[in-house]
Amino acid sequence: AIALSLVGIAIGLAGCDGNTTTNVGELEFTNPLHIPPLLEPTVDSEGEKRFTLTMQPGTTEFFEGKRTPTWGINGSYLGPTIRASRGDRVAFDVVNRLPERSTLHWHGMLLPAKMDGGPHQMIEAGATWKPHWTIEQPAATTWYHPHLHGKTALHVYRGLAGLFLIEDEESKKLPSEYGVDDIPIVVQDKRFKGDGTFHESMDLTPFGMLGDQILINGTYDPYLKITASQVRFRLLNGSNARAFQIGFSDDRSFALVGNDAGLLQEPVSLNRLLLSPGERAEIVVEFQAGEETILHSFAGEDGIGNGEFDLVKIVADRELAASAPLPSRLSAEPSIEASEDATVRKFVLTTESAINGKPMDMNRIDEVVPAGAREIWEISNRGWDHNFHIHDAVFTVLDKNGQPPAIYERGRKDTVFVPNGTTVRVAVEFGSHPDPETPYMYHCHLLYHEDSGMMGQFVVVEPGTEAQVSRRLSGSG
Ligand code: C2O
Ligand code: CU
Repeated sequence: AIALSLVGIAIGLAGCDGNTTTNVGELEFTNPLHIPPLLEPTVDSEGEKRFTLTMQPGTTEFFEGKRTPTWGINGSYLGPTIRASRGDRVAFDVVNRLPERSTLHWHGMLLPAKMDGGPHQMIEAGATWKPHWTIEQPAATTWYHPHLHGKTALHVYRGLAGLFLIEDEESKKLPSEYGVDDIPIVVQDKRFKGDGTFHESMDLTPFGMLGDQILINGTYDPYLKITASQVRFRLLNGSNARAFQIGFSDDRSFALVGNDAGLLQEPVSLNRLLLSPGERAEIVVEFQAGEETILHSFAGEDGIGNGEFDLVKIVADRELAASAPLPSRLSAEPSIEASEDATVRKFVLTTESAINGKPMDMNRIDEVVPAGAREIWEISNRGWDHNFHIHDAVFTVLDKNGQPPAIYERGRKDTVFVPNGTTVRVAVEFGSHPDPETPYMYHCHLLYHEDSGMMGQFVVVEPGTEAQVSRRLSGSG
């Protein structure tokens, strides 16, 4: 009995709750998958596209007969999909009808710091925030979510998140009929109480909330009917902490065509990919008429990968429209490279709620970066699982513990998984909107970690003014 209980303790320490969480075999796939609607903009005489997003409380019926209090954007849970093209001028009315303040951040977008929607761009309850910018980056699946310091986990968990698709000439060569052969898949894990309300302990485990049920686009127990022979899925891990090892129940392979920050140069065939919180992947999957398969998350390592889930059943119609063949060249955008003498910055993550030993401080600027710079950032994890996201930047993973990254981590990204004991080097290219007054964030995208202090701030400045700005910030000039 003593030996057994020791084993119990050992497992309890290694995993989050001692059990691998699973829903496999529990689902019946009874609910049609919700497709978040595309948001229509108004277009002014100068061609600016204006969108209205209203953050509001509501209730959602995830389970028949049970009403869950939730938050949503233009609806009761999640938000609409925004679609715009490279070169578009976009503007937003972000209306806060929540009972408290929040913010709305454009994750993956290159834009001026004042428009970024980070912790400094507060939207008080009842107020409207009006950001606007020009989209100056290649096609990508980006997303939006609140970023209120200390409350990001809870606000996202209650349902505030949505997709923001950037299109260009290259992306339109892929299946692009939204909701038909271009399907958003927002994966989120949740915990529910018996009465259907959310279990809202953001500090449930050392990683934060790890759920035992899955919502896809806010649908519990979903199925999706498809009608084309090739379907593009835009996968977003919109969870607070969980990582998903995504594939299909029949182990079929699929083409990876894009990740966080845009399309790959050419498609890569895979049968698994790992998405940690905040990461995206675009895949194209081939179907035969009449077949069925299940998008599945396979059990991974202990920690945030500890779980196995059926995500959504996919049912191919008896007859499928023939899709155009997948282009063999996708994007002309190269991976990011940094020169030999590039600035190297080092970030250490531990079990502490801090980066380099310093907890997030809204009044402290940690780094000063010249606009458009290419640098090497080295992130070392010496405790728990973490990942790392940089605002207003695109990066390419150079190596992980000296080894090349996994195939699905190549190309252009903005978030990278940094498991315990790993040092990741990324070549980063920063945006080009200097503003020495307004910081951007870098942080762990496990939202409880971010909220509790694993976040830092950087400003992007006119090249050549770094020393001057740093002196001013440290109060000595
Ligand atoms: Cu998706 Cu700084 O966040
Ligand atoms: Cu973390």
